[in-house]
Amino acid sequence: MTQSPFKLSLGGVTAEDLVSEFGSPLYVYEEDIIRTRYCELNDSIIYPNKRIHYAAKANSNLEILSILKDLGCGIDATSPGEVFISLSAGFSPQDIIFTGVNSSRDDLAYCHERGVQVNIGSLNLLETWGSMFPGTNVSVRVNPDVGAGHHDHTITGGPSSKFGIYHDRIQEVNDIAERHDLEINGIHAHIGSGILETDSFMRAMEIILQSSKDLAGLEFIDIGGGIGIPYRASDSPVDLSSLGERMSSRFTTFTEEYGRELELKIEPGRYLVAESGTLLMTVTNSKSTPKYNFIGVDSGFNHMQRPLYYGSYHTIQNASRMDEPEDRFVVGGNLCESGDVFTRSEDGIEERMLPIPEIGDILAIRDCGAYGFSMASNYNGRLLPAEVMVSGGKARLVRERQTFDDLLRGMR
Ligand code: LLP
Repeated sequence: MTQSPFKLSLGGVTAEDLVSEFGSPLYVYEEDIIRTRYCELNDSIIYPNKRIHYAAKANSNLEILSILKDLGCGIDATSPGEVFISLSAGFSPQDIIFTGVNSSRDDLAYCHERGVQVNIGSLNLLETWGSMFPGTNVSVRVNPDVGAGHHDHTITGGPSSKFGIYHDRIQEVNDIAERHDLEINGIHAHIGSGILETDSFMRAMEIILQSSKDLAGLEFIDIGGGIGIPYRASDSPVDLSSLGERMSSRFTTFTEEYGRELELKIEPGRYLVAESGTLLMTVTNSKSTPKYNFIGVDSGFNHMQRPLYYGSYHTIQNASRMDEPEDRFVVGGNLCESGDVFTRSEDGIEERMLPIPEIGDILAIRDCGAYGFSMASNYNGRLLPAEVMVSGGKARLVRERQTFDDLLRGMR
């Protein structure tokens, strides 16, 4: 069947067909995009002994995990829950690195019992680990005094950040390791998320490599995630080939100085999955105030927090009539908060030019594959949407829509 150019198609299936088969609102992922992004990134790093660990916090749908597993990817997990999901997706414990934040003894024990590499970001917790599991391997997260990110909330390096052991305290890592007979087998840093320039990565890498010189038994250096994507047409994507080449060449020189073969790890989340995901929603209402023409939809910030939480810009399309005359609109969700508006930018609510909708039209919010569903909630008693994977022109359900019973689960 020929597709109409005026209807949005995702991986060869129209948004309208997806919603009529699976309901609304609906998260849709395009498998090809995930595979392409993984291969591009993997190819850009020419240093041979490398591994990409997908940051499962971006989206831990089992199907996404198993596509990435199939490609040879490992996992960066931040909680026992993410370790559990990754193991359930078929990853082996050796594929997973656990980088917790303010981890409890139970968190550490859960990972240790399963043979997962644990990466610790505080001297205090390293001491705890040493007393719980003397004589073991463990890696450390350093704060390289460099931070970057698309928003203050996503900058994870520098003095205001709660993450990592400050790089100038690396000697204390050695002292603790010696006391508990620990082998510090890896070093890690993650400076932030949504970074579109390359200099911050290189500056952080330089500090990590300096710190690495003080740790004698390293097997890997993990330079974290953070690669951004162009949410706006005017954003320039990260120059991956230049970044990959600079990193690879600096790393090669370093390993020669270090005198030992080292694995280079990176742990992107957003880059691998953001562009694969679209949130489809149905127009339920329209109204005007003296200021705005509002379009009302059957979803809200409980399904996609990024616009409200960070003022993040996401492209929105009227998937049902892409070619029709446009007007200025603000798209509001179905939650009882005035902040529940999807058409936003860093400066607040923003009007967008959109084809004039009719009730029942499907709107598409693009680039929702990362930190979309994974940050969703049942706020206002609203159910989590279904998730669908599209590949080869066919769609398959990869998570069922919640039902009212889910709202009661565990309460009686
Ligand atoms: N590694 C660690 C230790 C992290 O904390 C993160 C993200 C990543 C890797 C992956 O970062 P990515 O490659 O996805 O940038 N909710 C925010 C993003 C928070 C990121 C938290 N940590 C957003 O929607 O922009």
